[in-house]
Amino acid sequence: MNPTDAEGGITVALGVTYEGRDPDLLSRLLPNVAYVEITLETIAEVKDGKIVLSDEIMSEFKNMGNAAKIIVHGVSLSIGSHDSWGVTYLHLLDKFMEQVDVAWHSEHLGYTKVDGEHLGIMLALPKTEQALDLVCERVHRIQERYRIPFLLENIVHVIPDFDGDYDDAEFLNQLSRRTGCGLILDVYNLECDAHNHGFDIRNFLDRLDARSIKEVHMARGVEHNGFLLDVHSQLPSNSTIHLAKDVVLSAQDSVQVVVYEFMPEAVPGLGHTAIAEELARMRRFFSGLSHASR
Ligand SMILES: [Fe+2]
Ligand SMILES: [Fe+2]
Repeated sequence: MNPTDAEGGITVALGVTYEGRDPDLLSRLLPNVAYVEITLETIAEVKDGKIVLSDEIMSEFKNMGNAAKIIVHGVSLSIGSHDSWGVTYLHLLDKFMEQVDVAWHSEHLGYTKVDGEHLGIMLALPKTEQALDLVCERVHRIQERYRIPFLLENIVHVIPDFDGDYDDAEFLNQLSRRTGCGLILDVYNLECDAHNHGFDIRNFLDRLDARSIKEVHMARGVEHNGFLLDVHSQLPSNSTIHLAKDVVLSAQDSVQVVVYEFMPEAVPGLGHTAIAEELARMRRFFSGLSHASR
């Protein structure tokens, strides 16, 4: 449950992505955040022909102590592939969890492989009964394997939707209802879908069971050839931050953290100081939230 202030505003924790090998950046991030989100694939390397976690980066996470809680966010599980899923990723996750305490872990509701071939992109699932059955069965297997909360995130729609059995909100509602799996709602992904495909964010939020949302993501990319891209290269815009606020308030006290995501490649352009100042601003914003927050 999130704390409330004297006027009944909700305070939600702030989190940030960190991919290792930049201790100065980490020291600027930690004073502002309660959670650090790590993507294991970005801290993996090939050693003696095997994909393993970088010892150097693992020691950074081990040395963080209680400075922040760690949450893991995978990108290569491909939970929606019809024939298989990312066994290599699960082995990385096993190894990470053997060494570091993880508050919860998450993946994307999509697929990156077809017939064992990498697509080079992540695609959203057809919202059919068949796809729902497949994902629910795999969520149950993950829940049994790790025994800590597992969340799935809405991803951008790169191509127009297949005409399925459910709309976006009901597909997520069914997924969380059947498995107990929590959701990450990436509000920048919603903004990309609205810009690129005319997606109706308000209608989606009205139909989504907000109590399943445990984590909210904010990011910002660039527009290219008229398309808003999910590239995490900028500081978030005010529209994204306010959409995150609306989601936190509608979910009452179910959202545990709002995470600002950026790619390591964006850090030199953004600068450590600008990132730290933005996080400090966000931390103040997400303290004592109310419908009047600006
Ligand atoms: Fe993500
Ligand atoms: Fe995200």
